[in-house]
Amino acid sequence: MKILAGPASIELSKRIAEDIDLPLLILESKQFTDGETYLRINGEVENEEVLIIQNTFPNQEKSLLEIMLIASTLKEYEATKVFLLAPYLCYARADRRRIEKEVISHKITLEMLYKSGVDSVLTFNVHNKEAFTSLIPELEKYNISVLSLIKEYLQDLVDESFMIVGPDKGVTDELAFFSEELGISSGHLEKYRDPETHEITMKDLGLDLENKNIILFDDIITSGGTAIDACKLILSKKPKSLIFIVIHALAKEEVFAKFDEIGVHKVISTNTIPRLDIEQIDISSVACKFIQDKFL
Ligand code: R5P
Repeated sequence: MKILAGPASIELSKRIAEDIDLPLLILESKQFTDGETYLRINGEVENEEVLIIQNTFPNQEKSLLEIMLIASTLKEYEATKVFLLAPYLCYARADRRRIEKEVISHKITLEMLYKSGVDSVLTFNVHNKEAFTSLIPELEKYNISVLSLIKEYLQDLVDESFMIVGPDKGVTDELAFFSEELGISSGHLEKYRDPETHEITMKDLGLDLENKNIILFDDIITSGGTAIDACKLILSKKPKSLIFIVIHALAKEEVFAKFDEIGVHKVISTNTIPRLDIEQIDISSVACKFIQDKFL
């Protein structure tokens, strides 16, 4: 297997290639004045399995198009199998039709990847595992979990005075995992998001949070509406401390600044989306182990 460093993930590609000792194909990439991208693959790919590593945030559409252009060219030059590792897979939340004639972007994105020549997609903690697995069955898919990595991080921090809370029941499985592995209690709030206005209403469902050390966990933060509202509600119940931990940190810097303003003690994410303004847990070791165990 060879690794092809996508323009959006050069650092991560180099780290993974070095750690598991795989040859790295560097892509020649430049931007024309009109904004279009020129791409050329350097190196031999005939009869090779190639793993493209390319994140799909920010610049979702550009990153996706680049993957498709690269995958198609790899197949034209007779690569035997094309894998894609997208640490964060964009459009995965648009997994079903909530109102008539809505575009199911997750399904179409997976279909376009497959049609362009991608045989296998690897990503971390996709929003809806069932949808990811069942949509476009001809495309091989792997949902890699970073929960053990987060657990290892939390292990050094927590004792029985801690409780892990989700902003809604969408993270029930994750909360059960942390609760069992860390020996702490868990519970979730209730969130309703209006499908038209996207306005959020949050309820505490009678959870007793007073004087406890609370960890709020979510899989993703985008606008910050969910996490900020959840934190405000939790803080109104007078906990001893509040930490927010999230896997995919998509929100803008000013959103992360708000956590500090409202009294959240610590914010942590993984680096499926690398950023410098918050503490991050590095996921590259999990990626390396998965690739080694599964494909090498
Ligand atoms: C929802 O189901 C997810 O788990 C997140 O809570 C949500 O997508 C976060 O989005 P936002 O930051 O825009 O509220």
